Amino acid sequence: MTTDGTTKIDPVIRLMEKKDIDLLTSLEIEIFPDPWPVEAFIDGLTDGNHTFLVVEFENQAVGYASFYIEMGEGRLTNIAIIPEFRRKKIAKKILDYILGVVKKAMCKYIFLDVRPTNEAAISLYSSYGFYEAYRRPEYYSNPTEDAMVMVKNLDNE
Ligand SMILES: CC(C)(COP(=O)(O)OP(=O)(O)OC[C@H]1O[C@@H](n2cnc3c(N)ncnc32)[C@H](O)[C@@H]1OP(=O)(O)O)[C@@H](O)C(=O)NCCC(=O)NCCS
Repeated sequence: MTTDGTTKIDPVIRLMEKKDIDLLTSLEIEIFPDPWPVEAFIDGLTDGNHTFLVVEFENQAVGYASFYIEMGEGRLTNIAIIPEFRRKKIAKKILDYILGVVKKAMCKYIFLDVRPTNEAAISLYSSYGFYEAYRRPEYYSNPTEDAMVMVKNLDNE
C-alpha cells in the first residue's frame, strides 16, 4: 500500500500488437462516448509515425495510449485506463514514457485535445504543466463539445 491508501502496482508498457486490436476496440467503446473505430487501431499497426502503446499488468491490458511526432512537435492522441485500474498512477507512467520519447526527439512542445468537462484528464495534464492554448469549437460529438487544446513547453526540460 502507498501512503495515500492506494495499491501500488508496476505495469509494463509495450507496443500494441495485432492480437490487441479487438480488445482495445472494445475498451475504447466502453470508455469513450465517441470511440475511435477499429480502423484507427488497425492503422496504428502500420502507421510508422503513430505509436500505439499498451500497458499490461499480470498479462492483462489495463490501459493504452497513442502519440506521434511531427514537425518537431509531439501530439498525444489517446490515453485511457480501464476503470478498475484508475488512480494507480498508470496514466502517469505512460505519460512519463511518452514525454521521455518526445524529449529525446528534441520536440519543443507536446499538444493534446481534451473535453473541457473531463476533469480527471485535465487534472492529470495540468499536474504535468500542460496549459490551455486554444479551443476548437464543437470538435467532439456525443455530446457536442469544444476541444480544449492543451500544450506543454518542453524547452529547458
Ligand atoms: C484520465 C485517466 C487517463 C487518468 O488515468 P489514471 O491512471 O487513473 O491516472 P493516475 O492514477 O496516473 O493519476 C495521476 C494524476 O491525475 C489526476 N487525476 C487522475 N484521475 C483523477 C480524477 N478522477 N479526479 C481528479 N484528478 C485525477 C491526479 O492529479 C492524479 O494524481 P494523484 O492520484 O496523485 O491525485 C483516466 O481517468 C481515464 O482513462 N479516463 C477515461 C479516458 C479519458 O478521459 N482519457 C483522456 C482523454 S483526453
